[in-house]
Amino acid sequence: MRLGVLTGGGDCPGLNALIRGVIKRGTTELKYEFVGIENGYQGLVEPEMAHPLTLAETRGILPKGGTILGTSNRANPFQYAVKEAGKWVEKDLTEVALRRYRELSLDGLIAVGGDGTLCIASRLAELGMRAVGCPKTIDNDLSGTDQTFGYDTARAICTEAVDRLHTTAESHDRVMILEVMGRNAGFLALDSGIAGGADVIVIPEIPYRVEPIVEKIHRRAIRKRSFTIIVVSEGAFPAGGTQAVAQQAEEIPGRGVVRLGGAGKVLADQLAEHIEAEIRVTVLGHLQRGGSPTAADRLLATRFGCKVLDLVRDGRWSHMVALKGLEVVPVPLSESRKVRSVDPNAELVRFAKSMGTSFGD
Ligand code: F6P
Repeated sequence: MRLGVLTGGGDCPGLNALIRGVIKRGTTELKYEFVGIENGYQGLVEPEMAHPLTLAETRGILPKGGTILGTSNRANPFQYAVKEAGKWVEKDLTEVALRRYRELSLDGLIAVGGDGTLCIASRLAELGMRAVGCPKTIDNDLSGTDQTFGYDTARAICTEAVDRLHTTAESHDRVMILEVMGRNAGFLALDSGIAGGADVIVIPEIPYRVEPIVEKIHRRAIRKRSFTIIVVSEGAFPAGGTQAVAQQAEEIPGRGVVRLGGAGKVLADQLAEHIEAEIRVTVLGHLQRGGSPTAADRLLATRFGCKVLDLVRDGRWSHMVALKGLEVVPVPLSESRKVRSVDPNAELVRFAKSMGTSFGD
């Protein structure tokens, strides 16, 4: 059995732990051969971006962030960005990807990624490529699995940021806004906001109004120390308004979706019209994706990496591994097409509200 391995989409903590799990179990126990495909699907379209992946390449990578294979969130064979006469155009290069797969003598592909990467794998599988998937993303927005790896690390980093912002907020009586990632899902903001004790949490699933947030800040201002900590998800937007976009989809060839960013600044500007306290915005950005994965992410990634080989061994192509309760189980790869978001009536949201946290609704 000769398998291609690729990591696609944004990098996230635990990718290397997963690659190591795949190669170690696959080589040692199952005697499979592996080909590392660089930069996601780019390595399946462009020549000379696929190389043997052996135990030697995986030594020492377990605690490292990022991915030794490189990744891309723009290389989609169905809409591949190519420059023609100085202009970017998108082309369907699935035939090239399928041919490369055959040229590399692959018996199957292990695709590691979020909804975009796994959806492409699922569509390639419909065209005859044998593929299995492993779900990753710091956004935790895939409905096919209870949790993706990468999320636990990002959540811990966001929580630490909330803790650290308390220092300046408290000392200067400021309103400190922390903007975190998550695309259209508010999990990172919700969890880190609650874990860090934020006073206001603003998520895309609950469009906000400025008035309740201003009220909350004023209520806190009667205390001796009158600071407020607000965690804002990058996808959050005011009721009746739109998301803050850092870059339009058409400005990013091949990516297919907008790049979000600026939600914290939008809220700060709105609040500044109503309050006198100093407001500062911190955008956590890629700090929340970087560095060493937590033990929980290393474990989940290792479990996914080992389990996905069961799917290959048992011929369960077109499936991905998923965490369901405490078990890692196969689910159809098509499940990756369904995204998940925070239920505005979820227990955690209700408990946070019952403790006085404002969601701006
Ligand atoms: O999907 C992971 C993620 O980090 C999102 O939370 C964020 O919106 C996006 O990727 C940022 O992507 P990039 O690093 O390409 O700007």
